[in-house]
Amino acid sequence: MSEMKIIAGASSQVLAKRVSDLTQWDIVDVEYRRFPDGESYLRVCEEVERVAIIQSTRTNDDIIVLLQLLDACESAEKHVVIPYFGYARQDKRFKNGEPISSRAIASIFKADSIAVVNIHSEEVMKYFRSPAKELDASEVIGKYISSLNLRDPLIISPDYGAIEMVEKISKVVNCEYAVMMKERISDEEVRISAEGLEVKGRDVIIVDDIISTGGTIKEALKILKKMGVGRVFVGCVHPVLVGDALLKLYRTGAYEVFGTDTIESSISKVSVAEIIASYLESL
Ligand code: R5P
Repeated sequence: MSEMKIIAGASSQVLAKRVSDLTQWDIVDVEYRRFPDGESYLRVCEEVERVAIIQSTRTNDDIIVLLQLLDACESAEKHVVIPYFGYARQDKRFKNGEPISSRAIASIFKADSIAVVNIHSEEVMKYFRSPAKELDASEVIGKYISSLNLRDPLIISPDYGAIEMVEKISKVVNCEYAVMMKERISDEEVRISAEGLEVKGRDVIIVDDIISTGGTIKEALKILKKMGVGRVFVGCVHPVLVGDALLKLYRTGAYEVFGTDTIESSISKVSVAEIIASYLESL
């Protein structure tokens, strides 16, 4: 079997380099540019037989690039890693006439295998038409939290969606965890309640899978502050960070905000490279 090579998708260049450093697999030379009308152009500039394509699909353009890479590597054995798979929150029809967007997108990627990191909804995994696996960042997030030198820490999930992940993280940190109740009012507005939580003077770490507008965490922060919490750290797997999301969190009193490099951002302090590297090495 020929050695795997890595294709760094345009959206995951730093992460792909980290995976290459860990695996010692070469990064393939790919040219990316745009046509004058905005259409995306790329060229895989060398022959490939066995490739790992690492590309988050946070934007519509990212989806196109991944499709183009797959097509350009038509005759190779292709293993796709999508560190952040966008549209996963549209995992069902919430209202008549809506598409199941995650299904529409997951079903178009054809590869020998597909791996995604902490997909928002497990439901989406069955929409892939190629063998698909979910990788889990809980352990690396837990290790990062353990390094923070916290006082009587409590890890909080802002809603039931992230509770399983928060439970796993708390096991790594060896501390308590709790959950808040969230009701979504609109795309940017949520209502959160925190009855029964003991947070006075404690260091709290709120962890969610995604921080998008920051609306969810902002509401959680406001409530915790009223309850006399100590420092509040905010973490996520996928720092989508729309517009002024980060500023919103710091202004509401977040002591530190961190995320992973599934989306490359200024708060990507935790790397999922090791998880991806060991998964690819196991293929
Ligand atoms: C939704 O259930 C997700 O787990 C996140 O809580 C949500 O996507 C965060 O979005 P935002 O930052 O816009 O509140």
